[in-house]
Amino acid sequence: MTSSWVPDIDPASDFSLANIPFGIISTAAEPEPHAAVAIGSFALDLKVFAANTDLDKIFPGISGLAEAFSQPTLNTFAEMGRAVHRQVRSALQDLLSTATIYPGVLRDNATLRSQTLLPLSTVTMHLPMAIGDYTDFYAGYHHAYAVGAMFRGPENALQPNYLHLPVGYHGRASSVVVSGTPIRRPVGQILPDPAAGGPKQPVTEPSRKLDIELELGCFVARGNKMGAPVPLDQAEEHIFGYVLLNDWSARDVQTWEYVPLGPFNGKNFATTISPWVVLADALEPFRARGIENKTELQGYLREAREESVFDIKLEVDLTTAEGDTTTIGRTSSKYLIWSFPQMIAHHTLGGCPLRPGDLLGSGTISGPGGVDERGSLLEMTENGKKQVLLAGMDARTFLKDGDTITLRGYCEEVGARVGFGQCRGRIYSAVQM
Ligand SMILES: *[C@@H]1O[C@H](CO)[C@@H](O)[C@H](O)[C@H]1NC(C)=O
Ligand SMILES: *[C@@H]1O[C@H](CO)[C@@H](O)[C@H](O)[C@H]1NC(C)=O
Repeated sequence: MTSSWVPDIDPASDFSLANIPFGIISTAAEPEPHAAVAIGSFALDLKVFAANTDLDKIFPGISGLAEAFSQPTLNTFAEMGRAVHRQVRSALQDLLSTATIYPGVLRDNATLRSQTLLPLSTVTMHLPMAIGDYTDFYAGYHHAYAVGAMFRGPENALQPNYLHLPVGYHGRASSVVVSGTPIRRPVGQILPDPAAGGPKQPVTEPSRKLDIELELGCFVARGNKMGAPVPLDQAEEHIFGYVLLNDWSARDVQTWEYVPLGPFNGKNFATTISPWVVLADALEPFRARGIENKTELQGYLREAREESVFDIKLEVDLTTAEGDTTTIGRTSSKYLIWSFPQMIAHHTLGGCPLRPGDLLGSGTISGPGGVDERGSLLEMTENGKKQVLLAGMDARTFLKDGDTITLRGYCEEVGARVGFGQCRGRIYSAVQM
């Protein structure tokens, strides 16, 4: 990878020239939310750039970009399709590289540089997409196994359908929020633990088992018409890019409510995503083989390629109200048994239309190893039986008010790291906010 003229790009920056993730920013000069890309510790304001540049020269043959970049979401750009995303990303990589073929456009134009290259610390991030629908899958094999074993024993850990179809449920798009948004502890209906000698009637209280779910989120680019399923070999063309996703979960609410229709209030109060969408093309160099398995799949789910998932290193930090931070989980997105194209093929099999900006969650991702490879406190603490030890002589079973959870994710490649930045949320008391 060539180097960039943008100053002070840390070799460990998630936003190297190899990445170029897209997001929605607002700034003092341009207070209406609009598009940008991240490079090092800067945002490149695409709306201002488009207004001051001959776009036909830089992005020949693409119309409507200036309009797309001034929208408050990336939906219009996403809908333009993979070929456009590829061309725009690679032209931006050229403009930002030391050896750019158009040095006069940005590299050597101090006026335009000062108008468009803004320190990330000075911009406000917004939700990158207008999310019409949010679907959450359950493709994290080791998570599904560990949780199944906890509640049903190791013999019945995986339900009979698990290896035959990507299990999922329809989530709630209205409570998907961008990193940094405060999270209020939900009140819910809970059946107190009978073993603890509590009443046999449910109570309505703030959740005592507030948890995280470490997931990868995937944004739909182009949709499909109702009644027209997306075949697996075309599903990749319907993917815009990826974000980190924390699907906050109230385990005590979930346990009582989920029979027989699945999760409801235990999941619908908040989902946090990271603000920068890492384009599908940026992750291509980091493909990995999926988990080895011998299931004979239905034809519509058979992947031609073996490297169907990505090896994104994932980390979970817990920061206490006192400010002590502990990395409580480390894993990789390669521990998914289903790829996103398989999820899309299955989601649309009966004709369900996906639309630009729809969000698909992978399900909680955990590694095969010990408690420090887990993507939820439910697993780390065996549903509250054990404690996770923290810096500052502290410990947790589930989240306390004042705790902050930060997810991080990156593909390591010296000087060409492709990362997601942060996906962060702080818990506030049920009554306080
Ligand atoms: C530099 O950019 C400004 C807009 O910010 C533009 O008005 C000016 O013409 C550009 N200079 C050159 C030499 O292209
Ligand atoms: C199992 O492995 C094959 C080959 O790696 C892969 O194509 C398939 O999607 C995997 N998943 C399941 C659930 O069988």
